[in-house]
Amino acid sequence: MRTVRNHPPTYYRHAMTDVGPKARIAGVFDRAAPTYEQTGVEFFGPPGRALVAHAGIATGERVLDLGCGRGNVLFPAAAAVGPTGTVIGVDFAPTMRQLTAEAAKDLPWVRVTSGDAEFPAFRPGSFDVVTGGFMVFLMSDPAAAVARWAHLLRPGGRLAVSTFAESTAAGQAFYADRNAALAPFQLPDPEQGLESKEVGAAQPAWVTGLFDGAYLTDVTTAELTVRSEFPSADAYWTWWLSLGSRRLLERVPARREEAARAAITAVLDKHLRRPGGGYRAETPMRLTVARRPG
Ligand SMILES: C[S@@+](CC[C@H](N)C(=O)[O-])C[C@H]1O[C@@H](n2cnc3c(N)ncnc32)[C@H](O)[C@@H]1O
Repeated sequence: MRTVRNHPPTYYRHAMTDVGPKARIAGVFDRAAPTYEQTGVEFFGPPGRALVAHAGIATGERVLDLGCGRGNVLFPAAAAVGPTGTVIGVDFAPTMRQLTAEAAKDLPWVRVTSGDAEFPAFRPGSFDVVTGGFMVFLMSDPAAAVARWAHLLRPGGRLAVSTFAESTAAGQAFYADRNAALAPFQLPDPEQGLESKEVGAAQPAWVTGLFDGAYLTDVTTAELTVRSEFPSADAYWTWWLSLGSRRLLERVPARREEAARAAITAVLDKHLRRPGGGYRAETPMRLTVARRPG
């Protein structure tokens, strides 16, 4: 006999409580944490390493990594500063913190703490570098957050953030079809507009505008395209669940998941199929670094 689950799916269940959008987003990342960048698909690793290189993080520096997640920026930063430096990671998702702290247990110059990256509680001027990997567009007021982060830098210190860059025409067609294929299976979105905020943040002037507004100077950007390979549609779905955008899937009731997966497989076949089998996605990403004057 087939069991039909009538209760609402994970994300929707959380949305119906009064915890507020920030706690709901923290919950999504908390549920993503065990598999985040652990499904065998490279995605946030390359931009994490590239951000540390682009920011020129060097031996002995003091680094604050906001929204550290599983440490895609934090660990390359820890390697760059070495034991004479310090790296503090901040994240509001407890499982992200726990797993990253465990992985850093042999690096005494690394500390992982809880807190809201939007209001980091540190002394002004106490860091050489502040980093934020794929999190600035999640802030409720990104301009105010960037201004606060700039105050944490010593004069001459650097702020370095990564964001997605504009999709190619092929990428836009894929996302449009993917969203349209999933939509009939989803319950309504309690966080209307979060995805379009992420897309808006991909405009070249979005981050540089925030940096200019915080009186940062010497703004430089670099772009990279990350190629991700998926042996099967199941691998794609598993990877999708490992990201913050799992919240799109958490709005699909369990009894509709099978049909939703079939609809997504059809979209993958149309857009991402490789001649040798499996699927390949290419994601343009952007790194932006600027300096506090002085
Ligand atoms: C897309 S992940 C990026 C993680 C990591 N920086 C990387 O590049 O792989 C965003 C991370 O920021 C954290 N985060 C988002 N908003 C936050 C906030 N207001 N305060 C603290 N952490 C936050 C999430 O829990 C998640 O771990």
